[in-house]
Amino acid sequence: MRNAAITGWGMAVPDRVLTNADLERMVETSDEWITSRTGIKERRIVGAEDSTTSLSVTAARQALDTAGLTAEDIDLIVVATCTPDQFLVSQACLVQAELGGTAGAFDLGAACSGFVYAVAVGSPFVQPGRHDRVMVIGVDTLTRFVDYTDRSTCILFGDGAGAVVLEATDEPRGLLSTVLGADGAGYKHLYIPGWGAFVPESAELFPEYRPYLHMNGQEVFRFAVRVMGDAAVEAVEKANLTFDDVDMLIPHQANMRIIDAAARRLALPREKVWVNLDRYGNTSAASIPIALFEAAEAGKLAEGDNVVLVAFGGGLAWAAGMVRWGTAGVCHDAECRKSAAVVPESERVPAGRASDTESRTTKTLAGG
Ligand code: COA
Repeated sequence: MRNAAITGWGMAVPDRVLTNADLERMVETSDEWITSRTGIKERRIVGAEDSTTSLSVTAARQALDTAGLTAEDIDLIVVATCTPDQFLVSQACLVQAELGGTAGAFDLGAACSGFVYAVAVGSPFVQPGRHDRVMVIGVDTLTRFVDYTDRSTCILFGDGAGAVVLEATDEPRGLLSTVLGADGAGYKHLYIPGWGAFVPESAELFPEYRPYLHMNGQEVFRFAVRVMGDAAVEAVEKANLTFDDVDMLIPHQANMRIIDAAARRLALPREKVWVNLDRYGNTSAASIPIALFEAAEAGKLAEGDNVVLVAFGGGLAWAAGMVRWGTAGVCHDAECRKSAAVVPESERVPAGRASDTESRTTKTLAGG
């Protein structure tokens, strides 16, 4: 079985900075309260010139550059977002329209856990006869849905995008284990009503029906502390590794107290935990790929390092994965890349088996 190594990484954030001092002028809060309760000092906010598409495209182009690829080399684009620029067409197609190429393109909705979900979904596509190179983007512009009179939510969120390129290798690189979970019954602790196909019969039936982010902070906090630790531990165990093997934890950047709790569960010292929420706040699906980008660019990730990704958020959903960093076994020149795209004889599905599958499928569809 082939693996999907991370060979390219990119990120983008808007230029506009919203500091805690700015928020002090907008709602009844203080830099001291925000810093001590969350760890956030400032965040980036989209302006009129930005969009989910523009941030995604900037991050994607950078990821292609790092990987030494062009858009034409990409076979599949998966965009994790809960704030697409529009619902029809997919955000992934809007990104592809700017990047070029003819890759398959679709969106994945798992809110702040979306990027890890998308890597988990995209990685198995990197297989002979399926796809050789997959682009995964985590992007959100949640500040478009934040009520800036609600001090319990407006202090938390920022906007951004992060992207990675996954490429085929026979070496143990990329995602070694995956943990995905959700508690749909808890959806009302963090959600945005409206902008969907559902329309309440009358406004009285649904008084909170406003297209703003609604959140029960304390419930989400409790949920996050529990699942971040549990999912991170499970990701390590599923990869048959121990806590001592973990070189870096890249957690969803929502709250420093939640990150500290996850790090404690893995017994990791502070220098093995990547934190940037002081500068960006919670960028939802973008938070993990942005942190991954920064850690890689800072030279903190070496070939063969074991990196735990762990996220939680709206759903309520959570996701974790153990990633083996590095590009061992990945083709780096054009000739090799071309031949890797050809399915080796030994891995082709024999004609007989293919038609068996087809007849089974036909039977199932016919209700057999
Ligand atoms: N500035 C000042 N005071 C604030 C405030 C703000 N921005 N927001 C809330 N408060 C007040 C509350 O009104 C409350 O006042 P009271 O005691 O007089 O009623 C007090 O601070 C404590 O509120 P509480 O909600 O208990 O604070 P907290 O310690 O739970 O921190 C969060 C609030 C939102 C920071 C925290 O619950 C959290 O981070 N939750 C997780 C949210 C999250 O990560 N969401 C995204 C998931 S992807």
